[in-house]
Amino acid sequence: MASACSVKSAETAADSVDLVWSDGHHSQFHFIWLRDNCPCPNCLHPQTKERTFDVMTIAADQPDLNALDLQKEQLVISWKDGHVSEFRTDWLRLNCYSKSAREARREKPILWAATVKTALPEIEYEAVMKNDSGLLAWLDLLVDYGFVLVRNTPTVQGEVTRVANRIAYLRETNFGRDFDVISKPNPNNVAYTALKLESHSDLPNWELPPGTQFLHCLEFDAEGGESTLVDGFGAARQLEKEDPAAYEILAKLHIPFRFHDQDWDVQWSAPTIARDQLGDLQEIRFHAALTAPLDLDFDDVLPFYRAYRVFTEIIRRSDNILALKLQPGDLLVFNNRRALHGRAAFNPESGPRHLQGCYVDNDSVLSKRRTLRGKT
Ligand SMILES: [Fe+2]
Repeated sequence: MASACSVKSAETAADSVDLVWSDGHHSQFHFIWLRDNCPCPNCLHPQTKERTFDVMTIAADQPDLNALDLQKEQLVISWKDGHVSEFRTDWLRLNCYSKSAREARREKPILWAATVKTALPEIEYEAVMKNDSGLLAWLDLLVDYGFVLVRNTPTVQGEVTRVANRIAYLRETNFGRDFDVISKPNPNNVAYTALKLESHSDLPNWELPPGTQFLHCLEFDAEGGESTLVDGFGAARQLEKEDPAAYEILAKLHIPFRFHDQDWDVQWSAPTIARDQLGDLQEIRFHAALTAPLDLDFDDVLPFYRAYRVFTEIIRRSDNILALKLQPGDLLVFNNRRALHGRAAFNPESGPRHLQGCYVDNDSVLSKRRTLRGKT
């Protein structure tokens, strides 16, 4: 790892320096990057660790180098304007932006299918609530798999929000701070009926759909009503392999989503599949019930439907669907922007089915995981 490495040599070029490490790795840093990231108290606020240096104060694109001194655990650079920057070498290695270092920093989700049932990512409520190591183990599973089953959560109203608060504040939506999934007399959402729900992501009609969803089973004595999960990232990768043209269409076309009732009219348009500049999957927005009338170029409508049908067929393949009959005390936690959820129809006359849910943002999950990793 980085801290075990030392810098063997530093070779300067016109606009950068090439550090060669004891393990053979090369890190090239541009001088402007180094000047911009100077960690001295004049350039980086000592308390807040926020940058106070203004890159526009450098006359040209390149700060002028005066001298570069490689010490045991530091790289000291003096600039022609008299400023001196001292970088710890372990910090430089950690922030190396070579191709291989950037590749190593990418999140690598563990893709899964229905067979994950034989080895579910799960954890005990006690472990999550009691200490930092249990909390971190939970969040690691959540980031890797996109879902975790928390077992033996007390079947108490509001417990779901206490568990979510282990991570951060709740994310409120038009459904409130938390919500009850139960069949209701005058539902404003199909979730509040006893109907089958096809795999979907919640609230794709928001600019930022909620990240992590919590569904806590308080009561379940009804016939049917199994919860289902599909790895949306896994399905997207299958689509990319089987029908690359369809994958590109779903990554490109902005699809309108809308929820409206008496008090709300929340609308947003976004692609079905979102990826970052490296091609890594960031998000799946998929919810037929909330898809508004398509607002696309005439020539894009048929290609969209074709691509959408291929993707939906993959999502509905039985070997992609994890079906779980939640028991009272089970708390299903999943990344709503990756794992698509649904449920089988149930018979509300046969007994109660009551889940309580809430959301937190994925930024909060990743932030908590980083701070816990820093502590342990
Ligand atoms: Fe839902």
